[in-house]
Amino acid sequence: MEVKIAKFVIDGGGQLKGEIRVLGAKNAAMKMMAASILIKDKVLLENVPDILDITKISEILIKMGAKIERKIHQLLIDTNTLSQTEPDPHLVKEFRASVVLIGPLLARFGQVKISHPGGDKIGRRPIDRHIKAFQDLGINVREDSGGYLFQKTDKLKTLVRFEKISVTATENILLFACGQNQPIVIENAAIEPEIIDLCQFLKKAGAKIAINGRQIIACANNLKAVRHQVIPDRLEAGTYAVMAAATKSELKITQLIPQHLGAFLAKLKVIGVKFEIGPDFLYIKKPENLGATKIKTAEYPGLATDWQPSLGLLLTQAKGTSRIEENIFENRLGYLEELQKMGAKIKLINNHVAEIEGPTKLSGANIASLDIRAGATLIIAGLIAKGRTQISQAENIDRGYEKIEERLQKLGAKIRRIP
Ligand code: EPU
Repeated sequence: MEVKIAKFVIDGGGQLKGEIRVLGAKNAAMKMMAASILIKDKVLLENVPDILDITKISEILIKMGAKIERKIHQLLIDTNTLSQTEPDPHLVKEFRASVVLIGPLLARFGQVKISHPGGDKIGRRPIDRHIKAFQDLGINVREDSGGYLFQKTDKLKTLVRFEKISVTATENILLFACGQNQPIVIENAAIEPEIIDLCQFLKKAGAKIAINGRQIIACANNLKAVRHQVIPDRLEAGTYAVMAAATKSELKITQLIPQHLGAFLAKLKVIGVKFEIGPDFLYIKKPENLGATKIKTAEYPGLATDWQPSLGLLLTQAKGTSRIEENIFENRLGYLEELQKMGAKIKLINNHVAEIEGPTKLSGANIASLDIRAGATLIIAGLIAKGRTQISQAENIDRGYEKIEERLQKLGAKIRRIP
């Protein structure tokens, strides 16, 4: 796959107007694509965003022998012909979600060889929680310089208790469980909406899954053909809500599930953003006074780490001293250094904590998009800054946001892509 290296050029200062639709959640869709390995029949996924990470996982599956037909926001997957147990190491290294291929491949073929998954540069991102959980189930895991070899044994155990919560590790064990006859119990599981949606998908295909608080019990016998509509991306919805508030615009954000945005909306309210919540939309009103607050990220139902960068940017426009505590990833405050180049008053206390003094007028600068959510945040920064902002490494934004410049142009944003 050829990734085009591009930049975004933004002329800031204007307001936005109109409606923007939230697309499907990539962090649910990619896991359903991996889950299709368990289903030797047709899988039809709807509301799939047209983004780079989906292209990458499609390529991995196709290289292993799957057939995938891609139409607008739709994927028809058939893994009946999939025969390989070693996902392409180069592609695996490009994104984190590739790690969830382990569970379904192991369940279907009894072994999988995989290199260390890559992804956003937001911390070391080890896979020790995945390995420990598989070992707890009686799986043999060998590591060498080329990656990991997971092998099923005949001593399968049925309980995994995570000491610390992990989204993709929970999904990996869930997917493995959905290839077993006997129920596997997952304790202290992650319960993000994308995981619940993955469970819905698996149940439609015939899996037996019970969710009780942070406990998930799952098993399955011969999963069948399934058609499923992926839930809207709550993280993308958050980006647009902050975009409206920061640019002092009125914006209707449609096709979302407000319940998935609980902790985020509560924080917006504290900051002083005014909004109306509809059954499947959010209407952000032009804010008057924004005030400082404390942000602490946590696992769902807490405030998602993925919303932290855009809220951090919003707090540069709020009166007073705000504090950010990033509790999930080791290195997700890098975007603040880019905002400093635009004039933001930020004190980086350590890798997890920062203080922001506001409000500050931002000025256009040449900055770099470090990861998906940081990149989207810098677009918002460019939209409110005086003058021209150039954001390099735009491909990091393309990994999670479909044709972002075209969709923002329709709202009146002065943004364009250059090679
Ligand atoms: N961690 C370990 N060992 C492990 C697994 C995780 O130390 O074996 C650490 C991580 O380094 C991190 C923390 O545990 O510090 C939480 O990681 P988790 O495993 O929960 O995150 P993830 O599964 O790697 C997913 C999403 C992220 C999202 C996080 C948190 C996917 C592909 N990625 O990552 O989404 O931020 O959960 O909700 O589902 C994004 O969409 O841009 C994105 C980065």
